[in-house]
Amino acid sequence: MVELTDTALQIDAPLAGIPQGPCHVAIIMDGNGRWAQSRGRPRLFGHHAGAKRVREIVECCPTLGIKYLTIFAFSTENWKRTQVEVAGLMSLFRRYISKEMKALAAKNVRVRFIGDRVRLDAKLILLMDQLEEETKHNDGTHLTIALNYGGRDEVARATKRLAQDVAAGKLSPDDVDEETLPKYLDTHVLPDPDLVIRTSGEARISNFLLWQSAYSEYEFIDTLWPDFSAEELSRLCHDYGARDRRFGAVKT
Ligand code: FPP
Repeated sequence: MVELTDTALQIDAPLAGIPQGPCHVAIIMDGNGRWAQSRGRPRLFGHHAGAKRVREIVECCPTLGIKYLTIFAFSTENWKRTQVEVAGLMSLFRRYISKEMKALAAKNVRVRFIGDRVRLDAKLILLMDQLEEETKHNDGTHLTIALNYGGRDEVARATKRLAQDVAAGKLSPDDVDEETLPKYLDTHVLPDPDLVIRTSGEARISNFLLWQSAYSEYEFIDTLWPDFSAEELSRLCHDYGARDRRFGAVKT
């Protein structure tokens, strides 16, 4: 069974700024392609603009009281895009990770990656490992980047490991429940997201954090990802603060 040794599991209260604001925000960064196409530019131009936006959003998290930020960078389905776009995105990830490494470490950001690494190239995996290692003692914003991530794939991989533990006698089938299964997920050291945001006007979750977002609040906004701003995130966090989360219960 996966050991829960990581202190990040402790869910911190919001740091500052927004009363009852979200502690964990997860974002589906959509609309890069349309943003570029509306300017007559290739799709990769939009992805580069989107990557720049990631930095601004990560940096505003402490002010907004967001302790955990999880972003969807590449899904298990995104391999279906053209070879040019996939290769361009992989190159962008490599450049972003190596360039941003020092800046994020200096800002006390702790970086993790979730998703299946098997299809990623060795150089990218090395950079991901280095960034995780270099930031592992940071205790500011916990940034999780979902790369070759799919919620169904994650649950399938988790179930496989769980079944292996059952077969090896480390876990009894009677112990498999809602507490045990998430310990095998990629996100096992993270709290569930409070707020999931999707940009670009599409109202679907596209295989993102399927298990973890069972009781998350959702915001589907029209802004294309490269136009998303700290101001808009602040407004969404304020709106979240006014929501009544009952988790299936009734207020007495
Ligand atoms: C979806 O927009 C976006 C992606 C598949 C890639 C997300 C990547 C980034 C924001 C840039 C890099 C991120 C990091 C962490 C460096 P889309 O291309 O599907 O847009 P469309 O729906 O308008 O075509």
